[in-house]
Parts: sequence; structure tokens; C-alpha cells
Amino acid sequence: MNAYQRLRDKMASASIEAMLVTDNTNLTWLTGFTGSSGLAVVTQDGGVFVTDSRYTVQAESEVKGLPVETFGSPKILPDFTLEQLQSLGVKRLGFESQVVTVAQREDWESRWTGVELVATKDLVSPLRMLKTDEELALIRQACGIADACFDHVQRLFQPGVSERDIELEIELFMRRQGATTAFEVIVASGWRSALPHGRASEKKLEAGDFVTLDFGACYKGLNSDVTRTVVLGEPNDRQREVYNQVLKAETECIAMMKPGVSGKAVDAHARMILDEKGLAQYFGHGLGHGLGRQVHDPGGLSSRSTDILEEGMVFTVEPGVYIAGWGGVRIEDDVLVTADGVEVLTHAPKELLVF
Ligand code: GLY
Ligand code: MN
Ligand code: MN
Repeated sequence: MNAYQRLRDKMASASIEAMLVTDNTNLTWLTGFTGSSGLAVVTQDGGVFVTDSRYTVQAESEVKGLPVETFGSPKILPDFTLEQLQSLGVKRLGFESQVVTVAQREDWESRWTGVELVATKDLVSPLRMLKTDEELALIRQACGIADACFDHVQRLFQPGVSERDIELEIELFMRRQGATTAFEVIVASGWRSALPHGRASEKKLEAGDFVTLDFGACYKGLNSDVTRTVVLGEPNDRQREVYNQVLKAETECIAMMKPGVSGKAVDAHARMILDEKGLAQYFGHGLGHGLGRQVHDPGGLSSRSTDILEEGMVFTVEPGVYIAGWGGVRIEDDVLVTADGVEVLTHAPKELLVF
């Protein structure tokens, strides 16, 4: 079933006759448009894609499934959109409340007389949890680039190399592969490895450090998100114990994932495994998140999750232990839920690498 049909079915069950899609990621997912300004109005039997004259040529080649209507100066987007709403006969229009500002809503309300605006929540975005074959192909490529990148930067795991040097090498590597970094690269060494989101700093790697790298590739709009922790020099007993317990939590959680399992149960399992060594208290974030057109895509593995795993969903699995003043370990892979389990999409080595 294509994206439009899935959206129309959801609209019907929510009694929304017409839906305004303005979230840029949802717009790309639905229509294929990759420009920075546009909107879609979707009805049960049609709709329209609206953008301005900067994007006329691009929209005509990219947008699938809706007629494209464009405008130029002196017209402005909300007034042109009203003309389109009127010609579609729209009287009641759902909008994505999570991305529309109060000012934008007020502006629409003042201009769109005769159109009742209905705030919807989680109507469009969760549909992105089930990946299409095209999305999966690109996620696989983004994962492959991240794996190759980890292999490439291992030569920098030496005392005296700065976290920033590693970040720059990752950035360059991604660009050479036709990708960009999916988010600001995390390189956190020594005491800084206890910072779950420690952006690369000027700190130089030192013997005895854990080094946590968290990075991903964004390839043609789809992302990967990988974390590995390595150690410089022979690890001490505590480092080995913490690392092995995080690895055990990660591998056991991946092994239990399959359709029908709840995101909440997988998260709870990670905490139970970490607690075998009294480490759950140092694991403050959720176990994982949906991954796709956004690094943090809809869906998650956490204590608050209401998601039930389905074939075609992609999640990260990323338990971590962060002990202030001592250091930390996180291991993160990307997995695709299959008919009877998961396929791990990232393949960088997970045994404790010693440099
Ligand atoms: N770097 C963000 C994350 O792993 O979710
Ligand atoms: Mn990450
Ligand atoms: Mn992540």
C-alpha cells in the first residue's frame, strides 16, 4: 500500500476529510519533494501539492501522486493555498499540531474563512515507522557507509590524537562517500565518555581511555546511527566488566526483538541485564528510537513506549552506562524488524577493541 493510501485510511479512521501536511520530512515521505518550502493538501479522492515559483521545475519532476500548483510574487503561500482549498471544496482541514506554530495557526485562521482547522496529533508521522523498500535500500547503504567509516578511523585511536581530529576524519569520510554526517559526531574519551552526548572536543586521547564514537551517515535522505566504544591500552577489570555487561544487554535485546514484542519490554530487558551488575542506575536514556528519514524517527524502545514491533520497522538499540568521573560505554546498532526476528543492519565489530 502506498503512502497516500495509508494516510487516507488513517484520515478516514480519524474522521479527517482533508489533511494539510507541512512537516518537511512527512512531505518528502509522502510526495517525494525534497525542496525546503511546500505543502500538501490530501483528500480522500485527490488533493494538491503547493509550492512557490523557486521550486516549479523541481516539484514537477519530484512530486508523485498529487497535481502541482505553484505561484509567484505578489501572491503569498497562505492566500494561494486558500484558493486551492476552495477549489477542492475543503471545509474542514486537519493539520499537524506538532509542527505548526501558534503564529502560523493564527495567520491561517485569519485568512482561511470558511475553513475549520482541526489540530491532529501523530496522524502522519507514525506512518513513517513502516519503511518502504526504497527507504530500506538507502538505510542499508547509510549503515554500510557508517561501518566502513568506523573501519577507516580506527587508525586514529592512539594517544595524542584529539577527539576533534577523529570527528573531522569522520566528516571527510562521509562526504567522500556521497553522504553527510547524520548528526553532530560524538567523540567522548576518558572521563568525557560518561557524557552520553559528548560532542568532540579538543581533548586528546590518553592511554587507559574508553573512547565512545557515535556517528551516522545521511545518504540520499536516509540515516544510520552507530555507536562503538573502544579502549586505549589493556582494559582494567572494571572496564571489561562494564563493557561486557552493556554488550550482553545489547545482544540480548536484539535477540528478543520480533513482531509482537513491545518497545517497552525490550527496554525493560536491557535494564534487567544491566542490573545484574548494579549498572541500571547509570542508564538514564531510552534503549532505542525509530530510524529513517530522521535520526530520531517516530517509534521507540523505552519505558514510555506504546509501540509494538512490526515487520518493516527500523530501530536503534543502544544501551549505555555512564559513570561520572569514571567513564562510560555505549554500543548502538540499527536493526530491521523482519517476519520472525530482526536483521542487524550495522556490522562494525562489537567485541571490546583494544588499541
Ligand atoms: N546520537 C544520538 C543517538 O544515538 O540517538
Ligand atoms: Mn547514536
Ligand atoms: Mn541513536
